[in-house]
Amino acid sequence: MSSSIWCWTQIKSMQNLIWCPAIVTGGFGQSPINSIKILIDFWRNIMHYRSHNLGELRESNIGEEVKLSGWVDNRRDLGGLIFVDLRDRYGKTQIVFNPEKVSAELVELASSLKFEYVITVTGVVTERYSKNPNIPTGNIEIFADSLEIINKSAVLPFEISDEVNLSENMRLTYRYLDIRRPRMLNNIIKRNKMLFAMREFLNNKEFLDIDTPILTKSTPEGARDFLVPSRTNEGKFFALPQSPQLFKQILMIGGVEKYYQVAKCFRDEDLRADRQLEFTQLDIEMSFITENEFMDTMEALAKKVTKDVTGTEIAYDFDKITYQFAMDKYGSDKPDTRFGMMIEDLSELARNCEFKAFKDTVEAGGYLRGIKAEGVAEKFSRKVIDELTEFAKIYGAKGLAYMKVEGGEIKSPIAKFLTAEEINEIVAKFDAKDGDILFFVADKAKVVYDTLGALRNKLGKELKLYDENEFKFLWVVDFPLLEWSEEENRYKAQHHPFTAIKTEDIDLLETAPEKVRTVSYDMVLNGYEIGGGSLRIHQETVQEKIFALLGMSQEEAREKFGFFLEAFKYGAPPHGGMAYGVDRFLMVLLGEGSIRDVIPFPKTNKGQCLMTEAPSYVEESQLEELRLKSTAEKKSNQ
Ligand code: AMO
Ligand code: AMP
Repeated sequence: MSSSIWCWTQIKSMQNLIWCPAIVTGGFGQSPINSIKILIDFWRNIMHYRSHNLGELRESNIGEEVKLSGWVDNRRDLGGLIFVDLRDRYGKTQIVFNPEKVSAELVELASSLKFEYVITVTGVVTERYSKNPNIPTGNIEIFADSLEIINKSAVLPFEISDEVNLSENMRLTYRYLDIRRPRMLNNIIKRNKMLFAMREFLNNKEFLDIDTPILTKSTPEGARDFLVPSRTNEGKFFALPQSPQLFKQILMIGGVEKYYQVAKCFRDEDLRADRQLEFTQLDIEMSFITENEFMDTMEALAKKVTKDVTGTEIAYDFDKITYQFAMDKYGSDKPDTRFGMMIEDLSELARNCEFKAFKDTVEAGGYLRGIKAEGVAEKFSRKVIDELTEFAKIYGAKGLAYMKVEGGEIKSPIAKFLTAEEINEIVAKFDAKDGDILFFVADKAKVVYDTLGALRNKLGKELKLYDENEFKFLWVVDFPLLEWSEEENRYKAQHHPFTAIKTEDIDLLETAPEKVRTVSYDMVLNGYEIGGGSLRIHQETVQEKIFALLGMSQEEAREKFGFFLEAFKYGAPPHGGMAYGVDRFLMVLLGEGSIRDVIPFPKTNKGQCLMTEAPSYVEESQLEELRLKSTAEKKSNQ
């Protein structure tokens, strides 16, 4: 379009501003200053799609001529008037087309508007006839005098509203429409707030934002790698980073001292509500710090993020509990401490009792442990308890014994196997009162932890034992170095193999390695692990010992981490760090049930992107170029 035609179209759509040039206004007796102001307004309106956004106008703007652009959120034809709710990122503003004041063509154009058309209108801000106190612009409306349809919309697959119940498949296929819904848009805005707060905090403390490679070598975070074949190096593969762990430690050896990065991490693991194949970490590393100094800094960061994202001030210092305490008392290494219901141990009692299921378990090295739900015994009918027993079985429990204190009596199917003294001991241990119910599990440690941990969370939620809006942070520290892998029948590193061990446990490396604890810490919020890290080993000899303990030969260590071990020869400073799971942290702060609701373009539980239809088959020629052959049977491209 030539510029003169373009200008003419613009001017045509601005009929009532055509009188504005300074010469004209001067001619009408305006003061020079007013003339300039009017001229600026004139050009602003011609050169822009909008003079204001749609959340901006208030009563103080009444009488002003404005130009607005956005999406048609709704159109109502009432008593001859046409009302349009116009929406943009900032809010909604009501536009009115009045047939008594504007041309029949304009009214006809307005009555052709449909959901999600993109339009521009000009008009005058007027006091709203029926005010809407629920929106910030609810006291005004715009009496339109021009309308331009910039773009039409096809019939929508769903309404752009938080009120409609949509399948996740639908939302992810049409993510761009889903993002137009206020809740998702708000989550995206909050995500930006979170990242901004993190960067601001760290930049103010002289951390350097450094990006590290995506095409790299396998990193040791314990999940399966995503591999990328190298075309130029036949038969060789890159791995996508599970985290920037090796690079950030190398940066400490490089003398950077304070590093951070908002890093994409890739882990080919089974997906859950709080896990993605591709997720975002705020990754941090520091040199010359102690564990407590580092944790204090991270605590301050978490408080700032919470304040900036939710407005909530966290006034308390985070509790620090050991991994062992967390497991023993909450059955989880990421306990929700918004409520009590702590686990009690009855193993000694079980060892000497006559109930075979309990006694045999403890004699075989297992435990008998239980929890108490206060004052709710009558809620647990036979049917409810049977359902809970089935729930317990998901975690491997063989049964779920219970004991009610009701009307001064003990009601329990296991009471007949226990002496009066044993029952009294149990009641005393739990300080059980009338109306309370106790649940017990006897099994090997893992089953007891998992079952009681899950039961505790379930009861806490269903019995509404906490305020959903409270944020309860804590640190879980001193994780064990090793973790027994049932599948591989060997010990594996709990975290990654570069985690420093507690000085007082060094001798245990030879005698009882399973008891060795690391200098490590996880940040937990409302029952979710939102971050974790450790101080690192910085001496080559200790590192070699750990590799040997993990069953890694010197050759294997060299092959996997050769460059890394080499770097440690040249004066590695003491250092440590952690990574926050940005998506998970945000999910908890916003009270969302799924990590997918805080990620702009997430994958489904099957690891697919429904919008782009990735992953997809590729051309045979692409595979040939990479010297790959697919043995998979080609179905449809989904
Ligand atoms: P870690 O493996 O504990 O530590 O990861 C740090 C945090 O990242 C989040 N997270 C995830 N979020 C979404 N989807 C996933 N699949 C996923 N996996 C982990 C969690 C977790 O707390 N390099 C170390 C950090 C360090 O030692 O500095 C690391 O990656 O919130
Ligand atoms: P039984 O004698 O097997 O019918 O068990 C009596 C009660 O003890 C039932 O309520 C079972 O659910 C429960 N129970 C059995 N084994 C266990 C176990 N290992 N841990 C906890 N409760 C159990």
